[in-house]
Amino acid sequence: MRKAILFCALAVACFLVACGADNTSSGNDGTDVAPMPPSWDNQTDRDWLYRNQYKQHMRHLWIDCNRVVSAGRGDLEPTWVEIIGAAADVQRRASIMGGFWSDIVAAGEEIEYCLDDQDRMGTAAEFTKLGAACDGCHMATWSPAYLHVTNGTVDGWLNNRVTKHNVNEQDNNPPPTLPNREAMKKLFFHYSMAQMRLEQWQPEDMKTSIGKILEEARVRSERWGTVATEAGKIVELANARKREGMKEAYGVMTEACLTCHGLQAGAAREILIPMPWDGPTD
Ligand code: HEC
Ligand code: HEC
Repeated sequence: MRKAILFCALAVACFLVACGADNTSSGNDGTDVAPMPPSWDNQTDRDWLYRNQYKQHMRHLWIDCNRVVSAGRGDLEPTWVEIIGAAADVQRRASIMGGFWSDIVAAGEEIEYCLDDQDRMGTAAEFTKLGAACDGCHMATWSPAYLHVTNGTVDGWLNNRVTKHNVNEQDNNPPPTLPNREAMKKLFFHYSMAQMRLEQWQPEDMKTSIGKILEEARVRSERWGTVATEAGKIVELANARKREGMKEAYGVMTEACLTCHGLQAGAAREILIPMPWDGPTD
């Protein structure tokens, strides 16, 4: 990692010296834009290994919401295809995230039935499904490095060397602490307790742990469900070329984003809140 960063820094330095330019350039409208790296296809750049996929996913939601507003705000005929494309992307992404939580809810409820029936085999099978839904989201949202794919791993793969089984290579650059991560740690605690109680077959106690997981999973599943449902309404309205109801659907959808951020995102960020429906049209 350090080596890669050093290479990048050197490359940027050489580029700037060679051009003899300052590190800003002018956009079409005369405003300053960010410095250009030597190439977006720089193969020594391994920063992406450390980038959180969940954040990237969130940023796309933000872009989509703002595209819906930009194309729909005002009195002019909306740009329907843009609204359809952007709202459908929100719907798809929210369904993926919500889907992991609803899988957890479904498995958790099955576990409760199995525990009531003293069905140990059934409980174990459903518990595996529950854990797979946690893992599924982590595979989709964590940074590769947090999933133990660090520079060393990549170098090994490039030399046709397999990753060692069950080695927990420590990521030396963990993600920042957020309320969301704290909630995750609690989920993991309840998950571990449930696992231990399954092994020792203590059905009543296991039910308590599963209940805690269900509480959290239900709220999150519903929240993503709201985002997906309202985004779906926007797609339908745009398909029918109807503006009435769109502002309301957008309002309910973005309210769900904000409610979740209030609880989970931590300190405010510059890019966080999607644009409100009403505002200037230029
Ligand atoms: C919809 C996605 C999603 C689901 C489902 C999910 N997680 Fe997470 N989990 C995350 C994200 C995002 C992070 C933070 C990773 C980061 O910041 O890079 C995280 C982090 C974690 C961490 C690491 C915390 C730390 O401080 O290192 C644990 C442990 C964890 N989750 C456990 C669970 C358990 C147990 C479940 C299932 C009961 C679960 N998660 C379900 C998305 C999810
Ligand atoms: C179920 C919870 C949840 C929902 C629903 C949700 N978010 Fe987020 N969002 C988070 C969390 C947690 C973070 C912090 C992620 C991090 O920094 O790792 C976040 C961060 C963000 C960020 C900042 C990313 C950055 O660069 O730091 C943006 C932008 C964002 N969300 C947009 C949205 C939009 C738009 C919606 C609704 C369409 C939405 N989110 C719905 C939980 C949620």
